[in-house]
Amino acid sequence: MKTGREDMMEKLLATARAAMEKAYAPYSGFKVGAAVLGLDGEIYGGCNVENASCGLTVCAERAAVCNAVCGGSRELAEILLTAENQPSVMPCGACLQVLREFSVKKVHIASREGKIASYGLEELLPLPFAKNKPGEETP
Ligand code: THU
Repeated sequence: MKTGREDMMEKLLATARAAMEKAYAPYSGFKVGAAVLGLDGEIYGGCNVENASCGLTVCAERAAVCNAVCGGSRELAEILLTAENQPSVMPCGACLQVLREFSVKKVHIASREGKIASYGLEELLPLPFAKNKPGEETP
């Protein structure tokens, strides 16, 4: 009998794998899929979208976060990441900063076989850049 938690991880993995299939990665051939879970319980997928002008490439994590925000979820809890042709993939620094913006607390890395390693966002990005929004007090 599966726990609710195991069920959720399976859903995140399935969403990330489906997103990975859609990746547009003609330059690197490196397909990545991500799935974020909002505090509202919704799951949003994202894949990397490359560009001939390499710097314009969007990582899977950032695509998933943009999908979540566009879907109305700004408070995110967790993200799961998987890649097609590498045993596992860690999020890049830019993506970690974006995950922090929307309060992601846990990062799960799934191997191709579905084995999952989990990290706290603070572990991966201990000293993030922080900036007050207009009207906010300095923490
Ligand atoms: N990539 C991601 O999607 N997420 C990461 O965290 C690291 C890199 C993508 C970007 C590019 O399309 C490909 O992987 C190779 O760098």
